[in-house]
Parts: sequence; structure tokens; C-alpha cells
Amino acid sequence: VTVLQGLIAAEIDARGPLDFAEYMQLALYHPEHGYYTAGPQRTGWRGHFLTSPEIDPAFGELWARAAEDLWTACGRPDRFPLIEVGPGEGGLAAALVEAADEEFARAVELHLIELNASARERQSVRLGSGTVWHDSIDDVGSVECGCIFANELLDNLPVRVVEMRDGELLECFVDHSDGALHEVFGRPRDDFPSAYLACIGVDLPEGHRVEIPVATQGEIARIAGILSKGAVIVIDYGISAHEIADRPSGTLVAYSETGVDHDVLVSPGDRDVTSHVNWTSVLDWFNGAGFKTAGPITQREVLHRLGARDLDARLRVDYDDAVASGRGRDAVAALSRRQALGALMDPGGLGGLQVVIATRGIATPGWMTG
Ligand SMILES: C[S@@+](CC[C@H](N)C(=O)[O-])C[C@H]1O[C@@H](n2cnc3c(N)ncnc32)[C@H](O)[C@@H]1O
Repeated sequence: VTVLQGLIAAEIDARGPLDFAEYMQLALYHPEHGYYTAGPQRTGWRGHFLTSPEIDPAFGELWARAAEDLWTACGRPDRFPLIEVGPGEGGLAAALVEAADEEFARAVELHLIELNASARERQSVRLGSGTVWHDSIDDVGSVECGCIFANELLDNLPVRVVEMRDGELLECFVDHSDGALHEVFGRPRDDFPSAYLACIGVDLPEGHRVEIPVATQGEIARIAGILSKGAVIVIDYGISAHEIADRPSGTLVAYSETGVDHDVLVSPGDRDVTSHVNWTSVLDWFNGAGFKTAGPITQREVLHRLGARDLDARLRVDYDDAVASGRGRDAVAALSRRQALGALMDPGGLGGLQVVIATRGIATPGWMTG
């Protein structure tokens, strides 16, 4: 039993069963013992799962082309804030800055939204001076023209969980007994879940379970609120409202050192808890905030449009050159980079993540249309 599980049990004793969003907030973001707040590295080769930025700098290198394109669409201003929310180990930010060509690099101002002090320290080792850290997106202030990235952020925001049972929408709460946390079902405490489902036009079939994003709209409003002109790029696992019926058990999963499973109530604080983003809502919320949206399009397709094939050809030349001149170590490095690029494009893996762009004051870039 983790320390956090004991704290959650005490909270349940004091207040009654928690709704799943309350549980998830504690499991991931409890100030001392939350999965993302406790300190250890979670993403990357030393963590529990690999995200695109940690696979290879190719991800950031390709996105640097996109960022430069957006800077050009904004009229190549002298200052161009690049803001990343939830930068993890900093791989995307580091590669973006590294790959930016000279003129663009001079305009780039890097802002990272990171709460975790140990993550900040690890990020600062990878990023030179000039990076600015903030506790919250609100602290960035208003951005006249810039670009905001959120890679695998929204899937970690708290969700409530409901299920249709005998024609009644019931909510899943978290209770405890005999040293374990378990689900109990009851009437929702308010009409947020039913109003949300009505809003996205979903009539939940009997026996089906679905997650209700309770924090995402607020997060999107805060992100959208700071940007007068430019783009927000959201990359995540997601489904659209009409695909909910294809996922009768919902999309919640847990990641830990033993891999991925459905035991989201086991060892809170030691395991990631994540659910698919609802793209229909994400688009609605950005549109409601005055943005134009495009996507979702698969990461595979977008990286392809941003020049993944050229990058692969370049790595192939590096490999051939290294082999021809007997530089074995360089050959292995180029080969493993080509494999990493393949993993970023893999439709059954990271390439299957989806990308949404929300723009204000500029046209939708060509790599996100069609
Ligand atoms: C799955 S990790 C992704 C990290 C990184 N973007 C990557 O791709 O490797 C999600 C991160 O988002 C952070 N996060 C969640 N909510 C946040 C918020 N409101 N503001 C900033 N970061 C947040 C978490 O702490 C965690 O580090």
C-alpha cells in the first residue's frame, strides 16, 4: 500500500467516496506523493513510458519547421514566445531550440509550464539559459504572437467516470475496504455528466462506460486566453464523440514499471492514470474561445508533411557514409535514429497519436489542412 493510498483512504473516511476526478487529481498531482509531483522521472528511457520527444530529437526537429512556419505566418516578429505546457523531461523544447535556424532562433523565447521542481532541474540541464519557467499558464502574461505546444498533456487531466446501468446514468466513485481501493456506483452529485453527454450528442448505450473531462475546458480556456495571435498545437491520444460507442469500457488505463493495464486504483502515486482526449469537445472549446481549428490528423501524417521523409533520407546518407568510412559507432547511431523515426511514424504506436491545431489571427498552415 502506498503512502498516498493511505492518505486517499483517510480522505474517503472524512468526506465519503471520491469521484474519479478527485481521485485522479490526488493520484497524479498530490503535492508530495502524486505520480507527477513526487519527483522521479516518469517519461523517457528512465521512466515508465516513452513519449515522442524522448524517443528522438527528430520529433522536435520536425516540429521546429512547423514553429518557424507559424512565426512566418505571424510576420516574423522579433520576439516569438514558444510555450510548452507539461514539458516532461524537456526533449521537445530542447530539440525545437536546437533545430531552429539562426534568424528564427534569435526570435524564439522559450517558456515552460512546469510545477515539479525536480523536473525543472532536469529540464534546465538540457536547456540553456534564456528559458523561463512558470507554475501556471496564467503566469506567462498575454502573448501578442506565439505558439503553444501540449504533447500528451490533456490525457492526464482529471476525468469523472459514468456508466449506463438499467437505463440510469450512474457515476463511479472510489471507496476503500480491506486495505484496497475499489469502485462503488451511485447517482452523480450534479448534472454535469448528463449535460456533457447531451452537449456532445452522445446517448450512452446500456452497459457502456465513458469518461467525463471536467478539467479540460478550463485548461483550454486558460491556454487560449493568453494568445492574441498564433497557434496552439495539441498532440494526444483521442477519440471523437461518435467513436465513444466503440469503446464500451471507456479508455482509462494505468502505466507503471510493469507496463500498461486497467488497474487504475492500484498503488496510486506509483502509476500514471490516463484517458483518451475527446477531440469533439477539444475542437468545440477552442472554437468557443475564438480560435479556428483543424484536425485531428495522425502524428504520422503531420510528421510526414513536415518532412519526415527528407530527414530519413539524411539519416540514411549519414549511415552509408559512416559505414563507408568504417565509423561503426556513427553507423549504429544513424541506424538507431532511423529506427526511432520509424517509431514516431508507426501507425500502431506513437504515429497513431493525433494532432489538433487551433489558430487565431493566422491561416491554418498547409501541413494541417486536407
Ligand atoms: C505524459 S506527461 C507528458 C510530458 C511531455 N510533454 C512529453 O511528451 O514527454 C504529462 C505532463 O503534463 C503535466 N501536467 C499536467 N497538468 C498540467 C498543467 N495543468 N500544467 C502544466 N503541466 C501539467 C504532468 O505533470 C506531466 O508532466
